[in-house]
Amino acid sequence: MLTPTGTLVADAAKGGRGLAAFNVITVEHAEAIVAGAERAGLPVILQISQNAVTFHGGRLAPIAAASAAVAEAAGVDVALHLDHVEDAELMRQAPDHRFGSVMYDASTLPYAENVAATREAAEFCHARGLWLESELGEVGGKDGAHAPGVRTDPAEARDYVAATGVDALAVAVGSSHAMTDRTAALDHDLITRLRDAVPVPLVLHGSSGVPDAELAAAVAAGMVKVNVGTALNIAFTGAVRAALADERLVDPRKYLAPARDAMANTVAHFLSVLAPR
Ligand code: G3H
Ligand code: ZN
Repeated sequence: MLTPTGTLVADAAKGGRGLAAFNVITVEHAEAIVAGAERAGLPVILQISQNAVTFHGGRLAPIAAASAAVAEAAGVDVALHLDHVEDAELMRQAPDHRFGSVMYDASTLPYAENVAATREAAEFCHARGLWLESELGEVGGKDGAHAPGVRTDPAEARDYVAATGVDALAVAVGSSHAMTDRTAALDHDLITRLRDAVPVPLVLHGSSGVPDAELAAAVAAGMVKVNVGTALNIAFTGAVRAALADERLVDPRKYLAPARDAMANTVAHFLSVLAPR
């Protein structure tokens, strides 16, 4: 069932669980994410990034409508989130496409400009019932360069949340986007200090590169929303490569079906790590 992001995040925070948000690029991603969540019996977030919208020719409507329909038909609670939005025009489309939340990403701007742009985004989103996430202290890897040395300062994070009014904060604690091996080491002491300093749930980006034990420890230290993208694409592409070893194969369903299954397995695995029973 399509459910507001804020409700799922608040429930996870109350229950001391991590809530996974997986990146959707194709409709098969959305189907796989929901299949994995149904298998685990746990809620999940489908997130569509600005980059994915660009891939779809700059059109938000088709992939958003497909994802919302998949969410609606799900046997578990599923939220729809618009991720890493730098274009305010795109953010303004979110209310028309059934999103429950937006991540407005002004993290590359100087502090004062990040605050001003994010406060405006918060005013827009809150007036329309949307939950807003933003980022302070740039998580590396968005441009292909991994910079795991960057860290979010707890005192600055507290001031930033008060100044912007955001509902959740993405923080730089050692992860980096688009890693294809799981070797990132998180600063768990910093996560605890951020949790104590900041009154809103914390968000971990670049979680594909974080080993299982580190993810579980991050949730125990206070991380709530956990974003995973690349791990699904590793599963997807690996399965496609294996299927295409048969050079007579031409029907895309013959490689998309195993790719979707492989992504569902990855989803179920991450969910079991983040919400151990
Ligand atoms: O916002 C999306 C995530 O941070 C995904 O990062 O592709 O490194 O897992 P990842
Ligand atoms: Zn991210």
